[in-house]
Amino acid sequence: MLELANKRIVLGLTGGIACYKVAEFVRRATEQGAVIDVVMTEAATHFITPVTMQALSGRPVYLDPWDAREPNNMAHINLTRGADAILIAPASTDFMAKLAHGLADDLLSTLCVARGNCPLLVTPAMNREMWLNAATQRNVALLRGDGVQILGPAEGEQACGETGSGRMIEPDQILAELIAFFQPKVLAGRRVLITAGPTSERIDPVRVITNRSSGKTGYAIARAAREAGADVLLVSGPTALPCPWGVTRIQVESAMQMHDAVMQHAAASDIFISVAAVADWHVTNAGDQKFKKTESGDAPQLEFAPNPDILATVAAMPNGPWCVGFAAETENLDEHAQAKRRRKGVPLLVGNLAQDVMDADVTEIVLYDERGRNALSPQPKLQAARALIAAIAQRSPR
Ligand code: CTP
Repeated sequence: MLELANKRIVLGLTGGIACYKVAEFVRRATEQGAVIDVVMTEAATHFITPVTMQALSGRPVYLDPWDAREPNNMAHINLTRGADAILIAPASTDFMAKLAHGLADDLLSTLCVARGNCPLLVTPAMNREMWLNAATQRNVALLRGDGVQILGPAEGEQACGETGSGRMIEPDQILAELIAFFQPKVLAGRRVLITAGPTSERIDPVRVITNRSSGKTGYAIARAAREAGADVLLVSGPTALPCPWGVTRIQVESAMQMHDAVMQHAAASDIFISVAAVADWHVTNAGDQKFKKTESGDAPQLEFAPNPDILATVAAMPNGPWCVGFAAETENLDEHAQAKRRRKGVPLLVGNLAQDVMDADVTEIVLYDERGRNALSPQPKLQAARALIAAIAQRSPR
């Protein structure tokens, strides 16, 4: 599944050391099916050559408003007609000022003014003082007011040796933003709380009891919710997965920690999606020191107490968020899932057969609500997550 299939992007490079990172972005975006026309300002050519950008995009690079290769000599018009988006990366202080004021003194600034309805995304890259400068901030506000999307900037070490805000976001983050841009904003402004991954219950300092869960489904749902415009908080048990771009993550280990983190944020959330494979019990006589093997070979006698049911607790809150549960079953999916939906008091429950999807990248989910069942076809977890987000947006109250 190519995320940018059939998308034609005009990529504008302006002067800045971050140009070298944009080479990597072009590679990743073309791998995802994007067709990229690169336009460079004169300043950008001091940081990276048009030859590099041509080789990576596989298409001629545009530098000059008087480009005789264009039959009508109107590159500024031809490039923007039919483009799905214009992305400026890196965007210098000077170029953002030009954009904000509608100046058109080179090919890239001219095509931005000539863009009509073509969306414009701008990825600032500059020294922190330049970013914080009152004039730059005024220009950013003007651009936002004109409907221009500003991606980043990030905080951190800068090429000049200073540290602060103004760094360009990383190539994979630009790619995530561009892919997200094309997703429908069905959850715009909604606050979505998600649990994901397993929990890990301590036996002693070196041993735990856990559930089998890679976290892939929950993380894909967090990404899809963010792509749909939601403000996403992910409470995650131990997984090896990176936090999806733009999502805030709280990392926990035990079910009790997950419960506490969720209860702290549930009242302020519009939607709660409980994907985590929460351990049903914790060990009440966990050791402060490692349990050692004994001469007799007897195993330690563990005692258990039940963990709180996080989903049922949130679903029972007065004025709580709209809740979505999950059920990973091994048999009789319809029967178990509908019973679980009613028992937990949730309007929507997502069921799957655990043995088919555990650790896999593809999933097959069935949605259960008061009207019955709706089985989605087997698909990659991110696709299924986007379909689920669309279903949630349709059903949950505004
Ligand atoms: N869940 C939860 N807290 C728990 C147990 C489960 O929030 N202590 C949530 C899961 O995140 C999931 C749903 O409840 O959304 C169902 O989880 P599952 O483990 O399938 O159900 P259980 O209630 O544990 O039922 P059983 O183990 O009997 O199937």
